Amino acid sequence: MLHTLHRSSAVIIALFALFHIANHGAAVAGVEAHIQLMENLRRVYRLPLVEALLVGCVLFQVCSGLYFVIRRFGERHDFFDRLQAISGCYLAFFLLVHVSAVLFGRGLLGLDTNFFYAAAGMHVFPYSLFFLPYYFLAVAAIFAHLACAAHWLLRNRLDTAVRDRVGYGMCVAGLVLSAVIITAFAGGFAEVKIPGEYLATYGQAEGTL
Ligand code: HEM
Repeated sequence: MLHTLHRSSAVIIALFALFHIANHGAAVAGVEAHIQLMENLRRVYRLPLVEALLVGCVLFQVCSGLYFVIRRFGERHDFFDRLQAISGCYLAFFLLVHVSAVLFGRGLLGLDTNFFYAAAGMHVFPYSLFFLPYYFLAVAAIFAHLACAAHWLLRNRLDTAVRDRVGYGMCVAGLVLSAVIITAFAGGFAEVKIPGEYLATYGQAEGTL
């Protein structure tokens, strides 16, 4: 029962993540393209009912996922089995911090939690030492976690060698996409100018970077 609920809630989060990561991929085309797409997507995921469902699923996913990790502690020997627990633990940490930070930024700091809200931390040293790997690992971890799910779901349809290739392929795709997204946010493709109100959250004034 708990496994079924975990999988159903995963489908909702994965659907959001698909659009959310595609949104971040749009940063390659420039900050405006990212912000424009986010404003369009918000019309759906910011609907109170949709947002409540999403945040509820995130909370449930983190708790049920950690329960599975603890229950099977020391029993995972296969590569994908271990990767599932490791990527799941990272996602639990990331999602708790990430969603709290977004709600905090919006509710208490009164900021528009758009491209600049995420990018600011990647631009201000020494915070960038935390935020660059933090976001990089998030995209890599969700691909790795989905790769493990696919590896398991295909167990009766494909032989092990093919399933392994599918799994590794998804992990590599995640690493590459993550590197592209982080490079775009960090200003590697085009200059990114962070507005003062976002820099102020890190104690920086505009024009000091
Ligand atoms: C490069 C990686 C990522 C960046 C830069 C990023 C950035 C952001 C930003 C800026 C928001 C605020 C959106 C808004 O105000 O409309 C947000 C919200 C959110 N992100 Fe991410 N995100 C990343 C990866 C992920 C991943 C992998 C997940 C996993 C599913 C995720 C889940 C969420 C959730 C659940 C919300 C809250 C949506 C809401 O209720 O408004 N994010 N993210």
